[in-house]
Amino acid sequence: MSPLTSLFLLALPALTLAACDTPSTLPSFTNDNLPDPFLFSNGNTRTATVDDWTCRRSQISALIQGYEAGTLPEKPATVTGSFSKSGNTGTLTVTAGDNGKSVNWANSISYPTGTAPAGGWPLLIAYGGGSIPVPAGIATLNYNNDNIGQQNSGSSRGVGLFYNLYGSSATASAMTAWTWGVSRIIDALETTPAAGIDLSKIAITGCSRNGKGALMAGAFETRIALTIPQESGSGGDACWRLSKFEESSGSKVQTATEIVGENVWFSTNFNNYVNTLGKLPFDHHSLMAMVAPRGLISFENTDFVWLSPMSSWGCASAAHTVYKALGVPQNHGFAQIGGHNHCAWPTSLTPTLNAFFDKFLLGKSVNTDYFTTNSVFGPAKWDATRWMNWSVPTLSGTASPTSAPPTTTPPTTTAPGSTSTPPSTTTTANGATQTQYGQCGGTGWTGPTVCASPATCVAVSPPWYSQCLP
Ligand SMILES: *[C@@H]1O[C@H](CO)[C@@H](O)[C@H](O)[C@H]1NC(C)=O
Repeated sequence: MSPLTSLFLLALPALTLAACDTPSTLPSFTNDNLPDPFLFSNGNTRTATVDDWTCRRSQISALIQGYEAGTLPEKPATVTGSFSKSGNTGTLTVTAGDNGKSVNWANSISYPTGTAPAGGWPLLIAYGGGSIPVPAGIATLNYNNDNIGQQNSGSSRGVGLFYNLYGSSATASAMTAWTWGVSRIIDALETTPAAGIDLSKIAITGCSRNGKGALMAGAFETRIALTIPQESGSGGDACWRLSKFEESSGSKVQTATEIVGENVWFSTNFNNYVNTLGKLPFDHHSLMAMVAPRGLISFENTDFVWLSPMSSWGCASAAHTVYKALGVPQNHGFAQIGGHNHCAWPTSLTPTLNAFFDKFLLGKSVNTDYFTTNSVFGPAKWDATRWMNWSVPTLSGTASPTSAPPTTTPPTTTAPGSTSTPPSTTTTANGATQTQYGQCGGTGWTGPTVCASPATCVAVSPPWYSQCLP
């Protein structure tokens, strides 16, 4: 390959990234309704294509980090894994190092019995061990997230392995630290074939506070194929604005003002916004929408008012519009019932859960059309037309993964207070032809899709990457 050709190949993705501006704050933003998830940060263009959504998703990522999560660091300089197994129990030790420091921790994986599938075992990463029934044929990693970022109370900020590496004053909240830890576990699995995990079939779960954490990891880490937050409530499935409304209607629910004092799940910067929620250019429907088009199934419990049942349902309904716009509404499920303890599993929901495991981890073609609530909300009712004063576009293009992409690209963020320039929704590269061995398609690709003769565009790693091959 000539030096000129390789320069061209390197330059193209960079051009594409630069076209999507991702400011981390929008100082003049104000909206007391649920913000339009399809509206770019420039405030006047809406997403029209599936590729536009990829840009919009990175904008939401930057905003959530800027306002409430703190900065999620990129992959550190070194990440390695070592693995040992005794019977059906494996131990994956992850070592992550940067800036002359290094941390490591061991993760226990329980494996199914029998012969592994050709691609390796599907894996459920379970915060605190998880509290859902796991079907046969799926390995479970017991994720000790508290070890990565402590969550004892407001006084446990900046404590844990993440902060040993990045410093106790890192802006990342505990939930962001946990997300980082999940990504490093997946990094280590990628270079540790002895662990025998199928990297395209990774799910994540947790309940209550750990459900909030599991949702955040699923939102930010695109290598996760299926996200299963259980009874995550406020700070998870629920929207801040809706929880505030639910409280003002007379229900004792968890709100943003309460949550920032209770624990260290969010950044200290979030304290500045909990009394002016309208200034947030997102809400948690945007966080859930970051998971799209990958699988997401939330379970909520109306017996526990503190979880903000109306807010969870309304917020999930708002997030669902993004799955609809992407043409994959069945990839997003929600089930909300009562009659069981907090984080206890009601067997009546097992078929719903198994359908999502079947589709996203076990490679079966099944119906996952589950989106229901018992509507036991107390005084506050969900009013979609009041809270969602925006239309749902049909995004052109195809988005239908049943597994996760091989790598993750952290968003580039700009400093708070910087002004945003409109992201371009088209690219000058469109219409041009791609050279041999160049990229010509795949998720998020906005460059040329036609190859210069005699090469043709081949989906080498569908749906993530297509390449011009002779
Ligand atoms: C929705 O309502 C908010 C708050 O009143 C307003 O700022 C926004 O412009 C409205 N959006 C549309 C599309 O009408």
